[in-house]
Amino acid sequence: MDLYEYQARDVFEAHGVPVLRGLVATTPDEARAAAEELGGGTVVVKAQVKTGGRGKAGGVKLAHNPDETAEKAEEILGMDIKGHTVHRVMIAEGAKIADEYYFSLLLDRANRSYLAMCSVEGGVDIETLAEERPEALAKVEVDPAVGIDAAKADEIVTAAGFSDELKGKVADVLQKLWVVYRDEDATLVEVNPLVRTEDGAIVALDGKVSLDANADFRQPGHAALEDKEAADPLEAAAAAKGLNYVKLDGSVGIIGNGAGLVMSTLDVVAYAGEEFGGQKPANFLDIGGGASAQVMADGLHVILGDEQVKSVFVNVFGGITSCDDVATGIVQALQLLGDEATKPIVVRLDGNNVEEGRRILAEADHPLVTIAETMDGAARKAAELAAAS
Ligand SMILES: Nc1ncnc2c1ncn2[C@@H]1O[C@H](COP(=O)(O)OP(=O)(O)OP(=O)(O)O)[C@@H](O)[C@H]1O
Ligand SMILES: [Mg+2]
Repeated sequence: MDLYEYQARDVFEAHGVPVLRGLVATTPDEARAAAEELGGGTVVVKAQVKTGGRGKAGGVKLAHNPDETAEKAEEILGMDIKGHTVHRVMIAEGAKIADEYYFSLLLDRANRSYLAMCSVEGGVDIETLAEERPEALAKVEVDPAVGIDAAKADEIVTAAGFSDELKGKVADVLQKLWVVYRDEDATLVEVNPLVRTEDGAIVALDGKVSLDANADFRQPGHAALEDKEAADPLEAAAAAKGLNYVKLDGSVGIIGNGAGLVMSTLDVVAYAGEEFGGQKPANFLDIGGGASAQVMADGLHVILGDEQVKSVFVNVFGGITSCDDVATGIVQALQLLGDEATKPIVVRLDGNNVEEGRRILAEADHPLVTIAETMDGAARKAAELAAAS
């Protein structure tokens, strides 16, 4: 889960990372009140969206007094930034910036380690810097078992090229950002810019934090950070049923068992769909190993609830759960759904006990169900049915 900047700011503050005061507003009036609460002076109005490049898109604006704050908030609220509508702004205390730096710490899966990146040239588009002048971006491996201790922090600030008088202060902040990363079970902590203010303080002016959902069981506080209203309603319904579902944009609903099979099903459907006016998969849904009737019914229920879905492709490879169990599951699921099942369903079964599975489906002879022998043939049929409806 990615956090909004204002949530990252709160988390930073809780772990002693120096930040400026910031208040969230959802209307221009709230923005004005927030500016007053911050003392009535200069503030920065910042769009709260989970995407980068807000500044360039016009989502970060300076305001010199509460009335101007309300005006800027009015401009920014409702703005579309790379497909994200701005519903909230953060009113942040204005910093007098002397210098902008960059710091990030992230999970480096390829090296089974953590990686710290740091530069004295921050604030800018870091991807551009990394591409055009890679030498200006220090990359330092961080041992997950040790983290950023004083020695590692010194190694990072030295590699980044901080002057001797700044090293100590910045290194202190990096150690605190490490505590955020470790204690919150983050996979990313990025600060761009980390700034030096005119009075010499080192402050995190922006924050991007991604939390590892695998650690939710030991992070009871993280549930409150979830953005329920922004979640897709279908994804929310699927999550409530414990289903591994991702909404996509197409017309062919997909159910499969095993993430790899579902991924390749998406590819095969997209390919087959080209012939039928560009039909595409409507979702990713992996019902996992034991495809019980209830799980199958839950999956179909979510998929049939998607208005964009015109046909459904159930692609199951029988392994430990054999095809006859899956076939029984499908038949029972359709009974459970009753009138709710209204769209054509193409079923491809293969693997353990496939003959019996197909026999069960054939015998049930449900009017909506078509049995296909191969994955390609099933994808083609599902795309054809989607195009025809
Ligand atoms: N509180 C603040 N006071 C003064 N200037 C600020 C403040 N917050 C941000 N800025 C200025 O605005 C610039 C952009 O802000 P910020 O980094 O938060 O947004 P962004 O980089 O455009 O967004 P993103 O990080 O999502 O790409 C900063 O580099 C900094 O110069
Ligand atoms: Mg930034």
